[in-house]
Amino acid sequence: MENKRIIVTGGAGYIGSHTCVELIEQGYEPVIVDNFCNSSLDNVDAIEKITGFRPKVYETDITKNLSTVFKLSNILAVIHFAGLKAVGESCEKPMEYLRVNVGGTVNLLEHMNQANVKKIVFSSSATVYGDINPVPFVETMPRSAVNPYGSSKIICEDVIQIACKYQNVKAVALRYFNPINSHDSGLLPEKPIGRPNNIFPIIELSASKRRIMSVFGNDYDTPDGTCVRDYIHVCDLAIGHIKALEYLDKIDNGIFEAINLGTGRGMSVLQLIKGYEKAKKTNVFFEYAERRQGDIAVSYADASKAKKALGWKTKRKPI
Ligand SMILES: NC(=O)c1ccc[n+]([C@@H]2O[C@H](COP(=O)([O-])OP(=O)(O)OC[C@H]3O[C@@H](n4cnc5c(N)ncnc54)[C@H](O)[C@@H]3O)[C@@H](O)[C@H]2O)c1
Repeated sequence: MENKRIIVTGGAGYIGSHTCVELIEQGYEPVIVDNFCNSSLDNVDAIEKITGFRPKVYETDITKNLSTVFKLSNILAVIHFAGLKAVGESCEKPMEYLRVNVGGTVNLLEHMNQANVKKIVFSSSATVYGDINPVPFVETMPRSAVNPYGSSKIICEDVIQIACKYQNVKAVALRYFNPINSHDSGLLPEKPIGRPNNIFPIIELSASKRRIMSVFGNDYDTPDGTCVRDYIHVCDLAIGHIKALEYLDKIDNGIFEAINLGTGRGMSVLQLIKGYEKAKKTNVFFEYAERRQGDIAVSYADASKAKKALGWKTKRKPI
């Protein structure tokens, strides 16, 4: 396993922990770098329970000195999840988002360069398509940000492209659509520190604690008036990272590829709620609220590049 060591920044988080499980199951050794600002060691315990292997953990900030981590031998590649991801918060603290997301990525690429590590898979986002493109979103479309979080992802992609061009790195930026759900074991629920921002933990809270969830806007130009998103099962998303690592072995240094990870189908917020109620045989308590600034009506992927380049497509129903 040690010959297939992968540095996983943010590996204790929601998508990172699911990817660590998949990595271990595919014979890789994930090494987690995380400051636990939005996760805990519970997820590392869960990874161990599920796979029988406990990844090495470096509790450190991605913007700080990472030379101890990069002293490890046999680092095959880096998967870079660590960062801040709350859209609303990014409007309140734009510089913090740039410092962590962009500064962290620059710092990581500097350490990779010093340690001669040339492969990186980056967590980008469908948010880079902004509000200027028609659906489905294709990787060749122009990028545009509607909030500082989106800007940080666009800048990170650009920074990584510079590393490809001038540091001989090769990279895949995976543009995730909307990951939901969790590992079948039930051991890795999406469990952010503090108030959840993503829709799935909010739905779960509304069902279990009977809190009323706000559905932002029911007057969009969509079949039922609520926003439409491309919800993807997080385990499918995790597998996409393994495929991206394999793909990096096939391309030359200097190459940067952006690839969508989505189902290619849209589902409305209301459909998601109804689907959850049916799957879990429960009720979700919700009410309609005003549209939220910065939300676009419809977002879903053109998933054909992932299929062609990575040989990947979603296998699970998101809910
Ligand atoms: N969840 C989504 O809907 C979604 C969609 C598109 C893109 N993404 C991106 O995917 C990545 C992972 O998202 P997630 O949903 O798993 O989020 P998460 O918050 O669960 O995971 C991020 C992890 O990074 C860690 N982290 C944050 N800042 C750090 C820092 N400065 N130094 C070290 N560790 C730090 C957190 O503690 C956490 O464990 C993020 O980059 C996010 O922007 C997420």
